[in-house]
Amino acid sequence: MTIPEITTAVDSVRAVQWEQNCLRLLDQRILPGRFEYLTFDSAEGVAEAISRMVVRGAPAIGIAAAYGVVLAAMQATRDYPGDWRQVLLEKLTVLQDSRPTAVNLHWALEQMRTVINQVHSDPVAQLLAEAHRILRDDIEGNQRMGKIGASFLQNCGAVLTHCNTGSLATGGFGTALGVIRTAYAEQNIQMVYASETRPWLQGSRLTAWELQQDKIPVTLIADSACAWLMLSGKVRWVIVGADRIAANGDVANKIGTYMHAVNARYHGLGFMVVAPISTIDPNTGSGDQIEIEQRKSSELLEFSGIRIAPEQADAYNPVFDVTPAELVSVLITERGAVESPNHEKIARLLR
Ligand code: MRU
Repeated sequence: MTIPEITTAVDSVRAVQWEQNCLRLLDQRILPGRFEYLTFDSAEGVAEAISRMVVRGAPAIGIAAAYGVVLAAMQATRDYPGDWRQVLLEKLTVLQDSRPTAVNLHWALEQMRTVINQVHSDPVAQLLAEAHRILRDDIEGNQRMGKIGASFLQNCGAVLTHCNTGSLATGGFGTALGVIRTAYAEQNIQMVYASETRPWLQGSRLTAWELQQDKIPVTLIADSACAWLMLSGKVRWVIVGADRIAANGDVANKIGTYMHAVNARYHGLGFMVVAPISTIDPNTGSGDQIEIEQRKSSELLEFSGIRIAPEQADAYNPVFDVTPAELVSVLITERGAVESPNHEKIARLLR
């Protein structure tokens, strides 16, 4: 069983695919030099792929984990027919621990857990249908957010985006990049500035590549040049995604997002956050409760395996930061836009 083809001419990339009872993930560690899918047939393999960033981006991680549960169910029912439920629930923990910050991972696993708790016989078909549903809903939600977000960008000219929030980071279409895609198609954006996103370079390696695939004009910019770009008056909006949004509207996203938000406020630009409802975590009261993933120091000390810092140097490498809600001009979700988000408005959105 495969997922129906739902790519379009302006949205041609798919990072997560289910084919012949296996999960195929586009290896994002080697883009843009090489375009290769890796195939996975176990939950452990999928968990490792998430940790090592073969697949990345909050929604894509959640979708990959959902398919990881399907793989675990296939294995558990085959090897432990009398005890599959117990074995399967243990595998959920392996997937859950693969990355800490993006809440979509936990959200997707909760959807799968609900199905596991409801079925009485072989769960594989129902779990597969649920994983497909999560994938499809993600793409549809992104397309809806694209329209809602683009309505704020009349005659916008150029925008700045950070990290990669496109089809590579989601089931397809993208969150922030979905808004940008839509506004470009409506001729309200002529240029996308992509900040390179040190140290993993999601902006230069992934966003620039993805926009090129869909023929959307893109200009790379060093993270450290973005305040200067804003001062020049060339961009009117900064548009980003999110990995977790707290109940009060604080936004955890790729390291550097907070810097862009502060700079956007100083220069009088709009700061738009685009994220599905599944990225909002009502159980996290505010941003200071969000666990910020720290990754290995070699991401800073080396470049493509070549040492670029002195041998004795150490490095601090938090890969997410938290932008206070007060710096967000508008939050776009598939349920609508929330201007100047705060605790009360988020609660209303979730109701
Ligand atoms: O470390 P990554 O590449 O997984 O971080 C991705 C981001 O921070 C994205 O901005 C976020 O997940 C939103 S993607 C739709």
